[in-house]
Amino acid sequence: MLATERWRHMVEVEHAQSDELRGAVPPPTDHWRPYADQFRADPRRSGDDLVDHLLEFVGRDDTVMDVGAGGGRLGLPIALKCRSLVAVEPSESMAAVLTEQAQESGIENVSVVQEQWQDAVVDPVDVVLCAHVLYTIRDIGEFLKKLEYNARKTVLVVVHDAPPQSQIYALWKEVHGKERLALPSLPQLREVLDELEISYQVDLMPPQPARGFDTLEQATTQLSRRLYLTDGSPEAVRLERILPGLLTEDEGVFRIKDSQPLRPALVSWHPTHAP
Ligand SMILES: C[S@@+](CC[C@H](N)C(=O)[O-])C[C@H]1O[C@@H](n2cnc3c(N)ncnc32)[C@H](O)[C@@H]1O
Repeated sequence: MLATERWRHMVEVEHAQSDELRGAVPPPTDHWRPYADQFRADPRRSGDDLVDHLLEFVGRDDTVMDVGAGGGRLGLPIALKCRSLVAVEPSESMAAVLTEQAQESGIENVSVVQEQWQDAVVDPVDVVLCAHVLYTIRDIGEFLKKLEYNARKTVLVVVHDAPPQSQIYALWKEVHGKERLALPSLPQLREVLDELEISYQVDLMPPQPARGFDTLEQATTQLSRRLYLTDGSPEAVRLERILPGLLTEDEGVFRIKDSQPLRPALVSWHPTHAP
């Protein structure tokens, strides 16, 4: 099987598992609405290793595109340095966070294209960034090629070294009695890039501790959503019963015991196809 086909298979079986558990409940129209605020961050913050490293790839005169920009956590600090930034972001709630944050921070060189990358009609730029988007993309080859065709100088892709939800995979076994099927992440991306004959560099960033939960109640609500539990179901009751024993508390933050911190990887390359 080709690496691009393996990637598609992983995404499809993971989505099928989610659909099965969701049952008759339709998927939300804006999946990101409950999480959008978590992707808001001060664009002028210091001490963010990933932002600092991304900025090394961007010049003051560069035009930049952030594909799947979310709330602008990474794109807005870049906009402060570069000539202009186009944020391609299909989610209404994420685009709203990004626009609000740009306004609050007095950043005026940002425009938003509210489309899926596959459908977006855009002009090429110098640097294309795509952070934490690829995990759920079925046609990974086409998606990556479009990133490449729209970048004159550099493509910057950020993915974790393990699937983004892998810190809660242990709970799947406890609650649903089955393994969570994993989404692709860095190891599979490497195989795809090799297959596409793209020469890339990987810079592993420091491990990121899980964001954690402020209260036990918040942990129950958020994990119930991520585990597709309906109120009052036997699985929801089981989660509520076992969760206190599965969490540790450190300085008022609750985290899942023994969960491995994720490491973001910055994968970069210089396109060989000029736009
Ligand atoms: C995990 S968030 C990452 C946001 C931001 N890049 C960051 O790292 O903070 C993933 C984002 O990708 C966007 N997204 C998902 N599929 C997309 C697609 N096909 N084209 C463009 N953006 C997409 C989602 O709407 C969401 O805002």
